[in-house]
Amino acid sequence: MVYNLSVRHSLLSQWMSEIRDMEIQKDRMRFRRNMERIGEVAAYELSRHLPFTERLVQTPMGESMVNVMNGQPVLTTILRAGVPLYQGLQNYFDQADSAFIAAYRKHHRDGSFEIEQHYITCPALEGRVLIIADPMLATGASLILALETLMGYGKPAHIHIVTAIACSEGIENVLRRFPDCDIWAGDIDDELTAKGYIVPGLGDAGDLAFGSKQQG
Ligand code: URA
Repeated sequence: MVYNLSVRHSLLSQWMSEIRDMEIQKDRMRFRRNMERIGEVAAYELSRHLPFTERLVQTPMGESMVNVMNGQPVLTTILRAGVPLYQGLQNYFDQADSAFIAAYRKHHRDGSFEIEQHYITCPALEGRVLIIADPMLATGASLILALETLMGYGKPAHIHIVTAIACSEGIENVLRRFPDCDIWAGDIDDELTAKGYIVPGLGDAGDLAFGSKQQG
């Protein structure tokens, strides 16, 4: 399933407008914090689709039947652009385990690129809920490669993908490879440039959060 969190206007619409706005983007701290807030809202929304179990707890005044999550999810992201969105997930899933992957786009002279993956640390995933934060779901290439690598750590019970902005092509590519996953998008755009940037999108999420980089 694909969930577009902008379909109904909410506070999230305000934060989406701010991360897209070139003037407001100049405030790096605000950009990161808005990404984080989008992660927080997505965490709350997707939590309604997680399995819960009834449990009896003792309050100072008596007993109460409550609902608690069936175990903790595993949160993950691809360094570096995904860090603020991941932080938002972690603020809400505050006891979760985490996995990290380092990857980057290696650009060629003709404008094409390939994804280079360098580092991965991950707990066992068998039977766990896996939630992956990818701020910009463009072609989906890095996300698909990351998920394929993560599958080497066991088959998750379910995969949730959290993204600030997705484009239709990327969603199709991901669902072709991982048809059972859920995608939670702050918004969905239609266009993708030849260099793999989403239009209108917001630009380069990693650079906006952390500053521009020099190609190595
Ligand atoms: N990554 C970004 O940061 N922006 C895009 O538009 C696509 C991928």
